Amino acid sequence: MGALRPPARIWAAFVVAVGVLGPSVHGLAGDAAGPVKPIKVNEARAELGKRLFFDPRLSGDASLSCASCHAPEKGFSDGLALSEAYPGSKHFRNTPTLINTAHRAAWMHDGRMGTNLNDVTREMLTETYLMNMDMRLMQERLKQDPVYVKMFKAAGLGEPSNGGVRKAIPEYLKTLTSRGAPFDTGKMSEAAKRGYALFTGKAGCAACHSGPRFTNDKPHNIGVPENTEIFTDPLRHITYVTYAKFMGVENYMNVRRDVGAHVRTHKADGSHVGRFMTPTLRELKYTAPYMHNGMFATLSSVVAFYNAGGGQDPNKDKLIKPLGLGTQEQIDLVAFLEALSGDPLTGDAFVWKDEIPDSYEPIENWRQVKN
Ligand code: HEC
Ligand code: HEC
Repeated sequence: MGALRPPARIWAAFVVAVGVLGPSVHGLAGDAAGPVKPIKVNEARAELGKRLFFDPRLSGDASLSCASCHAPEKGFSDGLALSEAYPGSKHFRNTPTLINTAHRAAWMHDGRMGTNLNDVTREMLTETYLMNMDMRLMQERLKQDPVYVKMFKAAGLGEPSNGGVRKAIPEYLKTLTSRGAPFDTGKMSEAAKRGYALFTGKAGCAACHSGPRFTNDKPHNIGVPENTEIFTDPLRHITYVTYAKFMGVENYMNVRRDVGAHVRTHKADGSHVGRFMTPTLRELKYTAPYMHNGMFATLSSVVAFYNAGGGQDPNKDKLIKPLGLGTQEQIDLVAFLEALSGDPLTGDAFVWKDEIPDSYEPIENWRQVKN
């Protein structure tokens, strides 16, 4: 087992090199709203990352690709309240959009991953309830596919390797930036314009939903009700308990709520329980249902929720209070939210359309060829 792993010394050097020299994926999020800046990419690496993203052979039993959960036609989410997971388990969170994810500074609904997309990609691949992949096995599978051998080489990544996968997929993710939203093209309806005035004014939304992606990238508690399926469906509950145990959540066997960003601080008074990362408001047209647990099916139900002062929670953020918006004002606010959705990223530039083989050609002279 140890033989396939690079010696610890080389491994450490590799991690440091990636950390220092790897391309930065953090955009500088200014506070002003405006188009999301496109990110320059290495084309050959992004193209390789695209094929990898759509390849189910990257999961343990070859049944799931990244795109199984992050589907392009659904804004790179899955349309479900709670995500499916690796066969035999079910997830306890809503699948987030990946559009503009490369501009984030911290990932996951609780913001627990604050390093880079290379790490997030590793988490998605290896986590037992996501793709349950052994990186050494993945590397061997990729080496058996001549298309990958060529593409890794062309991308300057040598022979197919786990480190190469974790560089190429993030490079592809960088290509997924919003474009063409009426908000950016100056084609907002009158209703959407009135909605924008409410958003930045009386409704107070911009206090948290700021900058080009309409998020401050910080966790807040707005009192979203629990999705009780997490605790009544044994498969979801097992996954949640596994996560909570690993994250060091106190009393994890008895907790009956998603503690959210509490996992980052473990405040003894529990005051961070129920905080979740402010999500982007771009591409919402494609990404229903909403919130970390999919509890809202429509944008009008989200706006009605805010209008009523959010949910019931002793830790609720002070900024969340009843808004007193009339029916027309709520309609206008929804029109504005819809104006933040642009062109779907479903063309060839974003989707791998060629067939991906589900078996391998036998290698006639396998004793001669180099592994
Ligand atoms: C089984 C479904 C599933 C698969 C397969 C999957 N993901 Fe995810 N992904 C999720 C869920 C659910 C979350 C949110 C998890 C959380 O908040 O704890 C997530 C979160 C992410 C995030 C963080 C997004 C953000 O804005 O915080 C990225 C990036 C991501 N996934 C990329 C990928 C990549 C790349 C792959 C393939 C290597 C992949 N995912 C495979 C379900 C999936
Ligand atoms: C105190 C900060 C804060 C304020 C103010 C705020 N939000 Fe949010 N918003 C959040 C957080 C945090 C979430 C995610 C909660 C969760 O996942 O449980 C969220 C989620 C959402 C979502 C769901 C997005 C998705 O992809 O799931 C929408 C839509 C939204 N907010 C719109 C608004 C509107 C409209 C207003 C003003 C009426 C507003 N927000 C005010 C912090 C805030």
